[in-house]
Amino acid sequence: MSVPNGTPNRTMADGAVLFDPARFAPVRGPLGRARGLPADCYTDPAFRAAELHRVFAASWNLVGRADEVPSPGDYRAVHTAFGSILLLRGEDGAVRAFANTCRHRGTRLAEGAGNVASLVCPHHGWTYGLDGRLTAAPGIAARGFTPRDYGLTALPIAIWQGFLFVGIEPSAEGPEAAFQDLATLLASHRLDEMVCVHRVERRVACDWKIALENGVEDYHTATVHAGSIGLQRHRLASLGPAYGAMVMERAGGIGTLPGEAAGLPVIPGLSAPARRASYFAALFPSTILNCTRDSAWWLSALPDGPGACRIVLGACVPATSAAAPDFDTRIAPYLRRWNAALEEDVAIMESRQANLMANGGSAAGPFAPSEILVHRFANWLLDRILAPSP
Ligand code: FES
Ligand SMILES: [Fe+2]
Repeated sequence: MSVPNGTPNRTMADGAVLFDPARFAPVRGPLGRARGLPADCYTDPAFRAAELHRVFAASWNLVGRADEVPSPGDYRAVHTAFGSILLLRGEDGAVRAFANTCRHRGTRLAEGAGNVASLVCPHHGWTYGLDGRLTAAPGIAARGFTPRDYGLTALPIAIWQGFLFVGIEPSAEGPEAAFQDLATLLASHRLDEMVCVHRVERRVACDWKIALENGVEDYHTATVHAGSIGLQRHRLASLGPAYGAMVMERAGGIGTLPGEAAGLPVIPGLSAPARRASYFAALFPSTILNCTRDSAWWLSALPDGPGACRIVLGACVPATSAAAPDFDTRIAPYLRRWNAALEEDVAIMESRQANLMANGGSAAGPFAPSEILVHRFANWLLDRILAPSP
């Protein structure tokens, strides 16, 4: 699996160099003096190519839950910044990630999710075992052809708290080390024991960073969400090199709209502080993990062509909650809350993208204190985009 080479060498029409670090000096300052990313970071194809190569391919990207493929032979095809991948549980019980690409002519092997004894390419019938090995290539008698050289392309995979992370050449430090303090903060949620109960995906007409930035600040909530969840007040809870977490204190959690009851049981064994707190953790590059008193939700924003991204919204709850006979009724108000807020967010995010593309140059205002993670994210991103080529 490969991504476009994001070598930062492109010159803009006005003569300035797109990747000249001097352009980004205002972003690099302390929060009180800093400015936002220039508009072309959200619109320029060269910047997008650099992100694929230097950010997504080189990071651990959250792609789903291990419990989404619970049994040997279970697979799920998921979209990533670097194309479709297959999550596949082998006969040995291990979950693996493969490029969803046949080694014969590159046809996509599978869509959606299911259970198989082997993966059979729909094009000419090449067949792969659950460990990715090529087991049959009907009619191929080419001289020098060795099936073991044509197994599926495996990608590095890691599990943290039941979440699966995949990259192409990700950093040596995996999620376990990178999110250590966050795991401590969320220990009593017992995320690794939860089960995935909801997963939807939609295409949104904005750059992925606009979606990520929107999700890590509460500055917009009083205006954008005046008609739904209203003002949310976050404060910083924990910071790590590859994440930042905010917390919001509200009795009853934040899972439902004001006036709607939170019908899911509180997570068994949840600590007293965590019962009152809802955490919003940005896991760089592109996931926001929300853990509240009865459930956990994740939102990933994945680049999907010029000025567009795919937003994945997933939810997980303790297995005991999911097993309740009236679970669908209990979770319905939570889905109404997330859908209402997301509709409002999508409208403002798409409006921002359209305006940046039309007007350019007007994105780089100062930060509010509550935009601390937007500033942090911008600098994390620039650390990678502007790093000297190895
Ligand atoms: S492309 Fe898969 S078997 Fe030919
Ligand atoms: Fe929002």
